[in-house]
Amino acid sequence: MYKIACLPGDGIGVEIIPQAVKAIEAISKKYGYEFHFTEAYVGGAALDAVGVPLPEETLKLCKESDAVLLGAIGGPKWDNLPVHLRPEGASLLPLRKELGLYANLRPVVLYDALLDASTLKKEVIAGCDIMVIRELTGGLYFGEKKREKTERGQIAVDTLVYSTEEIERIARLGFETARKRNKKLCSVDKANVLESSRLWRETVTDLAKEYPDVELKHMYVDNCAMQLVRWPKQFDVIVTENTFGDILTDQASMISGSLGMLASASIGGKVALYEPSHGSAPDIAGQKKANPLAAILSAAMMLRYSFNLEIEAQEIEQAVVRVLDKGYRTPDIMQKGCTLVNTEEMGDKVADEILRAR
Ligand code: IPM
Ligand code: MG
Repeated sequence: MYKIACLPGDGIGVEIIPQAVKAIEAISKKYGYEFHFTEAYVGGAALDAVGVPLPEETLKLCKESDAVLLGAIGGPKWDNLPVHLRPEGASLLPLRKELGLYANLRPVVLYDALLDASTLKKEVIAGCDIMVIRELTGGLYFGEKKREKTERGQIAVDTLVYSTEEIERIARLGFETARKRNKKLCSVDKANVLESSRLWRETVTDLAKEYPDVELKHMYVDNCAMQLVRWPKQFDVIVTENTFGDILTDQASMISGSLGMLASASIGGKVALYEPSHGSAPDIAGQKKANPLAAILSAAMMLRYSFNLEIEAQEIEQAVVRVLDKGYRTPDIMQKGCTLVNTEEMGDKVADEILRAR
């Protein structure tokens, strides 16, 4: 039996997570595995229910589970709360830190059926398959922060810190991942300006000696942002620090057609966490418009990385491909001649495909 902590969170999180659960339950029905889901509050939902964004019980549940499935966190309702209560900084980040999830894997894959869904040209994105590895528990997100009053206003400080050890462990994962793919690793930094990036580059370069079979390239983050839309097919695996990874993955999601397609796995600790890369999308929350595929594909990553169920993970991914091939689309990926479906219907289509496949 696999124990899964289920944290829908805020906004569209509560709409998409049930669809991911349906996909896992379809796998369970078909193969006889037992998945046990326990729901808990996190983020704004937890603030409203119990007054804190990351309740002790939620953290405990996560630590005692075999994996965590998370929807999304945050929303305008909680945006003006003091820092220690604001959902993003006071629940998602501590959750990642507490679980030791230093690596965030975000696969950027273009499914053929979505060739026309992106705003980018077909010939630029056709056949794209990139794995972005984002460092998740260091950098600006976790460095010391401070505010001070000055005569004319205030100053605000965020600190960008990285240690050799932190860089080495994420870079190692980059090399190992590249080794299993097309053996090309692109390390992204801003070493022409930032000291932390200079240490990053030195450390990655040193480690490369252990991986002579992997072709390593360094790239400045501004150049990488440009290259991702100019010629994304040059990339196989990208490894980068927390903030750069946050920004570059939202950008890279357009290669896959929509941010609603981008799954993610946060790994490195005993219990891994799976969450779509998009946020809580307050503008469409509660309207059944959200694309659940990123959440469903994150569930596939859970089967792959936490439970070692590779065939079953692929089964979910292939069901997604077939549903897209049959022309079902949520609004974010809608194209002429396709059939518009809502969040729930999309979840049902994928679950049906899983059950139907032999
Ligand atoms: C992401 C999100 C989060 C992040 C936010 C919600 C704090 O944008 O997972 O990419 O910045 O890490
Ligand atoms: Mg982000």
